[in-house]
Amino acid sequence: MVKQKKPNLDVKIGPLNLKNPVLVASGTFGYAQEFKDLIDLKKLGAIVTKTITLKSRQGNLPPRTCETPSGMLNSIGLENPGIDKFIREKLPFFKKLGVPLVVSIAAEETPDEFNVLIKKLEQISLVEAIELNISCPNLKKDKLIAQDAKDTLELVGVARKLTKKCLIVKLSPNVTSIVEIALAAQNAGADALALINTLSGMCINVNQRTPKLGAWVGGLSGPAIRPVAVKMVWEVYNKIKIPIIGMGGIMDIESALEFFIAGAAAVSVGTANFVNSQASLEIITGLQQYMLDNHLQNLSKLTGKLKTCQD
Ligand SMILES: Cc1cc2nc3c(=O)[nH]c(=O)nc-3n(C[C@H](O)[C@H](O)[C@H](O)COP(=O)(O)O)c2cc1C
Repeated sequence: MVKQKKPNLDVKIGPLNLKNPVLVASGTFGYAQEFKDLIDLKKLGAIVTKTITLKSRQGNLPPRTCETPSGMLNSIGLENPGIDKFIREKLPFFKKLGVPLVVSIAAEETPDEFNVLIKKLEQISLVEAIELNISCPNLKKDKLIAQDAKDTLELVGVARKLTKKCLIVKLSPNVTSIVEIALAAQNAGADALALINTLSGMCINVNQRTPKLGAWVGGLSGPAIRPVAVKMVWEVYNKIKIPIIGMGGIMDIESALEFFIAGAAAVSVGTANFVNSQASLEIITGLQQYMLDNHLQNLSKLTGKLKTCQD
């Protein structure tokens, strides 16, 4: 019997070369150190940090999370130590890890804060990619940057001029047309898109007649949002050329495969990290097995290969 060649899981996200297409999603994996005794971090395709802002943030009032049917609602409010402390205290852990590091950043007040953050990160070779979180629903703003194509075009255009690193733009599902925003990010020079961030939501304690979250509203994640996320990945894949990092309710290999087939070049594991710390590694081995079983030598044979029912 001829032995089949091991499938190749390499993937290129703009200028970034990953040994496999499985990342961990921003805000669900801390700064990786928190997971060092739980999983073999070196096996991950890349690590995305919790979103960092210019100044430190304490985040929103508790309670900040509550369970929902097939998911969770969170209103963390971007609690983080601020960029300088992050660079001093959190970055050194990544030095010996050898896993590509994606730093997620956001502005609190004005879009100019992105420029200062990018200039600081541009100096650090350990940082291989920057993810612009223009879609956090927990910042008490009337409108997100990712809810306006013109704002997205402008902000990403400025960011593009400031960095040669891989520039990823994270989009919001809380929009009328995600394709319109995706096109704006692509046209402004983004290397890749991360989609989706959480869906805006609210839960009420009926006995007390109070909101379950201290911030009243939050972002819904987990399996409940998966069909929405898969559809958005599929819609965007059909209209844009840059790679998509798909996420939203990925819990296991089957759910990850839905995203690849819909058009994702890579996937990010978020809420699943709270339920099963091994989920991302199980997806990597599951992907290898699926590709072997289906005689797919590399990921380009899987990404976007959705068949019509007549095929
Ligand atoms: C507790 C929690 C905190 C999050 N914090 C961030 C964050 O800081 N920045 C960000 O871009 N996304 C954040 N997200 C969104 C996730 O990265 C991801 O886009 C979303 O949860 C959908 O994926 P999932 O259903 O697999 O969790 C957070 C999600 C959760 C559940």
